[in-house]
Amino acid sequence: MRHHGQMHARPGVGVCPVPMNSEPTDSEHSNREHSAWGYLPPTSFRARRSALSNAQRETWDRLWPRLGMQAPSHTQAAEPTPREPLDTKTWFGREAPLVLEIGCGSGTSTLAMAQDEPNIDVIAVEIYRRGLAQLLCAIDSAGVENIRLIRGNALDVLQHLIGPESLTGVRVFFPDPWPKARHHKRRLLQPATVALIADRLLPGGVLHAATDHPGYAEHIATVGDAEPRLVRVDPGSEALPISVVRPTTKYESKAHEAGSAVADYVWKKRGQVTQSGDQNAP
Ligand SMILES: C[S@@+](CC[C@H](N)C(=O)[O-])C[C@H]1O[C@@H](n2cnc3c(N)ncnc32)[C@H](O)[C@@H]1O
Repeated sequence: MRHHGQMHARPGVGVCPVPMNSEPTDSEHSNREHSAWGYLPPTSFRARRSALSNAQRETWDRLWPRLGMQAPSHTQAAEPTPREPLDTKTWFGREAPLVLEIGCGSGTSTLAMAQDEPNIDVIAVEIYRRGLAQLLCAIDSAGVENIRLIRGNALDVLQHLIGPESLTGVRVFFPDPWPKARHHKRRLLQPATVALIADRLLPGGVLHAATDHPGYAEHIATVGDAEPRLVRVDPGSEALPISVVRPTTKYESKAHEAGSAVADYVWKKRGQVTQSGDQNAP
């Protein structure tokens, strides 16, 4: 499947939440230092205001039990494979290619891309409860059936809920850039994170990352290119199993207004899946 054309942001979703209490402390870094994957940042996110409006609370109470779940904590972070991967077939009620979106914010891209690809199931992971509530409201209004939500750290989700070679795609759109040098270790996309993502992708599966921060863009390109199981692809000239056409979020619009260039990177996991499910080397 190849995807072309421009998508547009939908009103009412897409605000990247305003950070509160954004100064991290070094003591928060200890837990993941010795993960099976090497250094995984424990807190790539910031604490935020998370109060819900009455309407959001009503929608949350009604839909979360069916569409949402809380991720386990990082206490078992040293384990390389999940004890009991999530039963996504039961959760979605069907068997379909699965995409994990990390840090969906309030879900503009999640909703638009899921609507564009009703044959693909999308799990949106986010720490920020109000962002998930905004996405739930948008799902409710649009009647979209192929999105599920997980609240928690995406690294816990990847480690403990997602089995090896089970994802057709991973999306990381505008991860927090942590621009100060002393905070770079908080950046989500580190070599160990990319190795974990590569492990969870099916052969032929896609990692799509986007950022408006030049320094982080360079870092993302370096760690992605250094992962031996991934090969960088030009989405304009390569058939991919999922869309890489993103809508423009409010967050991205602000970056454009500030004169920042947006960089998109797409990697494909080496190997291919035949129709019978056998894997072949490239
Ligand atoms: C800069 S915002 C971008 C939001 C959205 N992707 C967009 O393009 O508008 C980054 C988001 O990633 C979330 N985030 C950062 N690290 C995360 C992690 N380890 N697990 C889950 N969410 C995370 C933050 O809470 C925040 O909402």
